[in-house]
Amino acid sequence: MIRLLLSLTFFASLSLNAFASEAPEKSSLSFNQLLRSMSAAYEAPPVPNVEEPVPAIEKALENDPRFWITVAAATKEERTRLLELGLSIEEVTPTAVSGIIHRDSLPAFETKSVNVISRMPLSQFAVSAFKDFPSQDAAYHNYREMYDRLKALETANSDIVSLFSIGKTVENREIWTLRINSSAKGTKPSSKPGAVFQGAHHAREHLSVEVPLLFAVWLLENRNNAEVKKFITTLDIYIQPMINPDGAEYDISTGKYKWWRKNMSVNSGSQGVDLNRNYDSWWCQAGASNSPWADTYCGPAAFSEPESRAVRDFVKARPNLKTMISYHTYGELILYPWGGKYEDIPDQNDLKVFKNIAQGMARLTGYTAQKSSDLYAATGDSCDWAYAEAGIFAFTFELTPKGGWGGGGTFYPGAGVIEKSVRDNVQAALYLLRNTGDPRKAAAE
Ligand code: ARG
Ligand code: ZN
Repeated sequence: MIRLLLSLTFFASLSLNAFASEAPEKSSLSFNQLLRSMSAAYEAPPVPNVEEPVPAIEKALENDPRFWITVAAATKEERTRLLELGLSIEEVTPTAVSGIIHRDSLPAFETKSVNVISRMPLSQFAVSAFKDFPSQDAAYHNYREMYDRLKALETANSDIVSLFSIGKTVENREIWTLRINSSAKGTKPSSKPGAVFQGAHHAREHLSVEVPLLFAVWLLENRNNAEVKKFITTLDIYIQPMINPDGAEYDISTGKYKWWRKNMSVNSGSQGVDLNRNYDSWWCQAGASNSPWADTYCGPAAFSEPESRAVRDFVKARPNLKTMISYHTYGELILYPWGGKYEDIPDQNDLKVFKNIAQGMARLTGYTAQKSSDLYAATGDSCDWAYAEAGIFAFTFELTPKGGWGGGGTFYPGAGVIEKSVRDNVQAALYLLRNTGDPRKAAAE
């Protein structure tokens, strides 16, 4: 055990170093190189921090009317135009720039349809920016890193990939969606059977971002593999790694985890709505709270939140969608409806489909397949809604760890769990794609 720990620590420092030196071309790494660079041993995460008092100098910045903003810009001409719109450009990447903008300049950004990737009031920034995942978890993608990787995938596979936003969050971030389809791009409709992979409805469940994001990397790297090629030409595949980017960014905004779950809606006296209680499936009847300060607050009404509305509108506009996975952590479970009622879904054939596909994916991951409400009944979750509203075979995954680590090892299991989680879940996601063409065939298994 001690030897194992020692060697794990040794590999952790090796791979962290490797990561640091490869950082500049991170987006060009292959799937295997990327996963290797992301592997690090488990390190006990810090316990939740008690908010530290804000120093006086930072207090003085509280009313600063400026924002730190990141916007898409790929050419020098676009960058020039942004300077003319009042942005001070401080950082440049191949696809975006970041800098400082006064709030009075923002309306012009809207009318000139500038694509804002993220923005943060300078007041908050002064206190917390340049912060990120704690260093031992640097391998995890923050919002900006996720966007850069999605963008790089689009650039490198522009014949079959398109990147678009399904809507904006409370704090005005885009909810990015990567689409893989050989014949339709962006929001153009497709009649091919569709599959959706979603991460991070919940802010602190950062592993749920890595799994769908790295599945996209894997799929595109293997695009010439016969089976993958078939998926790309016959299916309509959507990957949405961060449904709740506001919460995910807030969770890491001080460099120490905040254990945040909800989105960033402002309630009176508290913040946040549990997005996985906000869908219109027996909304707020069970396993959800009416108290705005609660972690499971269902919100003032079904679909009160821009993030859940974005998913709703995305799904409703695409009757071709057949299958879906919403990734969460943790528990190593694969859940199928109902989640909001203890009963089985009424259609016995569909129930067989759910059970058989869940079993198939369980075999590939070692997770346990079960009815969602066998865990607990919770109304307003995305998968119940997607099945009830649109007949989509929608599964909730609870990723690693299995649980029981206590003391905070659970939502923050370290970068060491990424590789196995991703590899196993690539297989499960492929299994779902095999069943997306005609999910009901799975009833016969
Ligand atoms: N942990 C997830 C949540 O609390 C799982 C939800 C699954 N749905 C259910 N009704 N049990 O949102
Ligand atoms: Zn969750």
